[in-house]
Amino acid sequence: MIELKNLSYRYGENHALKDINLTVNKGEKIVILGVNGSGKSTLLKVINGLIFPEKGEYLYKGRKITKKAFRDRDFAKSFRKEVVLLFQNPDNMLFNPTVYDEIAFGLRQLGIEDKDRIKIWAGRLKIDHLL
Ligand SMILES: Nc1ncnc2c1ncn2[C@@H]1O[C@H](COP(=O)(O)OP(=O)(O)OP(=O)(O)O)[C@@H](O)[C@H]1O
Ligand SMILES: [Mg+2]
Repeated sequence: MIELKNLSYRYGENHALKDINLTVNKGEKIVILGVNGSGKSTLLKVINGLIFPEKGEYLYKGRKITKKAFRDRDFAKSFRKEVVLLFQNPDNMLFNPTVYDEIAFGLRQLGIEDKDRIKIWAGRLKIDHLL
């Protein structure tokens, strides 16, 4: 499902990822472990299609993930629906003025916002009283 081949990424002169090879199969759960600054978040951002490698490639379900691939709206929508990154610091993720808007935000991006759906998810998380 996820395949990284000889992938490298750098911030200026700083090589955050060097020649990474990784395969993750469907249904597999993995842990990425490493010291501070070893490149875990960078790796996750690449897998999430938020930044793009300078060398090597990233294939998701066999499709090469590049900046250009996201110009295909259908692909961009399906990828964003399937591949999700929760940021390390929740304060960077929660930026809407209300709980309702916060839940609605993701659905709105996917064009599937509706009140019932928001209520269902709030209920599953037991935060419907906050809506
Ligand atoms: N936006 C950035 N600009 C420049 N350098 C960066 C940036 N983000 C990360 N780096 C550098 O890239 C390297 C990898 O950082 P990264 O955040 O991926 O590590 P990490 O394993 O997630 O660390 P932590 O355990 O602290 O979360 C580090 O040397 C870091 O200083
Ligand atoms: Mg990190």
